[in-house]
Amino acid sequence: MGKTVILDHPLIKHKISILRDENTGTKEFRLIVEEIAMLMGYEALRDLPTELVRVKTPVAEAEVPMLSGRKLAIVPILRAGLGMVNGILALVPSAKIGHIGLYRDEVTHEPHEYFCKLPESINERLVILPDPMLATGGSAIQAVDLIKQKGCSNIKFMCMIAAPEGLKALSEAHPDIDIYVGCLDERLNENAYIVPGLGDAGDRIFGTL
Ligand code: PRP
Ligand code: URA
Repeated sequence: MGKTVILDHPLIKHKISILRDENTGTKEFRLIVEEIAMLMGYEALRDLPTELVRVKTPVAEAEVPMLSGRKLAIVPILRAGLGMVNGILALVPSAKIGHIGLYRDEVTHEPHEYFCKLPESINERLVILPDPMLATGGSAIQAVDLIKQKGCSNIKFMCMIAAPEGLKALSEAHPDIDIYVGCLDERLNENAYIVPGLGDAGDRIFGTL
């Protein structure tokens, strides 16, 4: 069974509130998405395994914990998930990076795949799957399906804002994965946008409004 963690941290809430403001411009938006991803990554990676390694400090020899050679991959859901990659990479710089391209049909809100390239031996890796928005849950569910089809079962999905509908759908479709949410919003509107949300995350990160 995976776990669902609503981070509920004042720093994360504060930064998400800045993103919500329609007057926040592209440059600031991008920077803050990276900062939130780093804060969320810090929490999501708290159960990484360590092993004791012998080092000699200037004072004495000691057995000290270091990350054990667990392979990591960051697989953003394009486009908006790309904005979170550098923040996570700052914590685990040697992680490999894959990409899953999905766009939501404007009428049906169903996700459509247009790209999937994952690092080699993905089945042996812990996959961090970032996407700022979990709305209906369709995109995240399909992305997890794609990763599982390649034999990987160790997956942590990370989003800045979730709608209750999307969180329920994802945790029911994939009860085995861990889900990290920066802020749980009220609901979806008639266009399947998160309310209050922050609008279209991809457009705001890339300035394509
Ligand atoms: C957004 C967002 C998620 C998806 C969430 O992407 O980044 O991937 O919508 O919606 P869902 O939970 O209802 O599937 P979008 O499809 O707008 O593509 P973009 O990132 O290229 O803008
Ligand atoms: N995708 C977004 O970028 N924002 C929403 O509110 C819903 C889906």
